[in-house]
Amino acid sequence: MSDYRGYDKQNALLNLLGIKKPIIQAPMAGVNTPALTAAVSNAGGLGSYGVGAMNSDAARKTIREIRALTEKPFNINVFCHQPAIANETVEHLWLEWLAPHFAQFGAKPPEVLKEIYTSFIVDEAMATMLIEERPAVVSFHFGLPEPNVIAALKAAGIRLLATATNVNEAQQAVSAGVDAIVAQGIEAGGHRGAFDPQRDDELGTVALTRLLASKFELPIIAAGGIMDGSGIAAVFALGAAAAQLGTAFVACPETSIDDGYRRALLSDAAYRTTLTDAISGRAARGIANKFTQLGADSAAPTRPDYPIAYDAGKALHAAAKAQGEFGYGAQWAGQGAALARALPAADLVALLEAELKACARVLAERCAT
Ligand SMILES: Cc1cc2nc3c(=O)[nH]c(=O)nc-3n(C[C@H](O)[C@H](O)[C@H](O)COP(=O)(O)O)c2cc1C
Repeated sequence: MSDYRGYDKQNALLNLLGIKKPIIQAPMAGVNTPALTAAVSNAGGLGSYGVGAMNSDAARKTIREIRALTEKPFNINVFCHQPAIANETVEHLWLEWLAPHFAQFGAKPPEVLKEIYTSFIVDEAMATMLIEERPAVVSFHFGLPEPNVIAALKAAGIRLLATATNVNEAQQAVSAGVDAIVAQGIEAGGHRGAFDPQRDDELGTVALTRLLASKFELPIIAAGGIMDGSGIAAVFALGAAAAQLGTAFVACPETSIDDGYRRALLSDAAYRTTLTDAISGRAARGIANKFTQLGADSAAPTRPDYPIAYDAGKALHAAAKAQGEFGYGAQWAGQGAALARALPAADLVALLEAELKACARVLAERCAT
């Protein structure tokens, strides 16, 4: 076996996904829009749309909206977390602890917290809808669905991707029959895709990409901290067949982010990101702000399960925002956030490709000497 296993997988992945460029816009629930997804797919990459926070009717409508904007393949992403276990006492103490923060904005916390969305692993309506609508690609985050669901999606001709944050999760995804693995490093913006949030190995993108590319036959898609053509070239050197970029696309005018998020991303605040589980109930990386600071409070009680805690997190953000305070938003962003460029998505894809080629030329010269 060659030490460079992984380097010849790019064409296989492009053919499998039906795309021209090895650039994937990460699914970003709450931030992505049909316009963003379609723009990236029309530009030759793979546009993605996260429906993890939607029900099947809304997701179906979204797929049709994307289809109205592009004939190219796109990816629909679902959340495969273990369903939340409600605990009234934990939730009550959490709301009590948050109450003074709501009070600053003349608001009260919700009386009770809800599991604001359903995991795909128990959402039969979502699986049926996907099989009917047949997006070209479906991706899984936080885990994997049952084998019968995977078999049904594959039988419908859908290509499958799964996030893995270590070798063990990648092995599970390979055994389950997915087509390619998204290697998500600790640098990544948004939620950690770890299958069990209590057991996160916190591997960086470089080590994880290399580990997976040398161990598995499947194409590996690197994600986490990749912001420009240099980052893409770097993960190709590690054996990745494609790069998945989230934060790099957040500043595109096609996203649905609010002014506070956009300002933070395009300011010096973007130099500091941090992981917190206080906003949603699961570890996620975002720009350090008032909410992440709150999460670092050692007096914080046990947080409710994901996504029950998110119900409170979104309510606190709404109360603060109504008073002009944006610092309680989930401003998800990866460690490279300060490198974000506020370009239309199609222009960004073209620029990434040009940077990648320029970087490859420089590297070829350097490596030849
Ligand atoms: C705003 C935001 C939202 C995200 N939402 C999702 C999601 O819905 N599903 C998913 O699989 N990954 C999601 N992610 C994680 C990405 O798939 C990817 O791992 C990450 O963006 C890569 O790191 P980067 O942001 O540094 O490029 C999100 C990331 C960001 C920045």
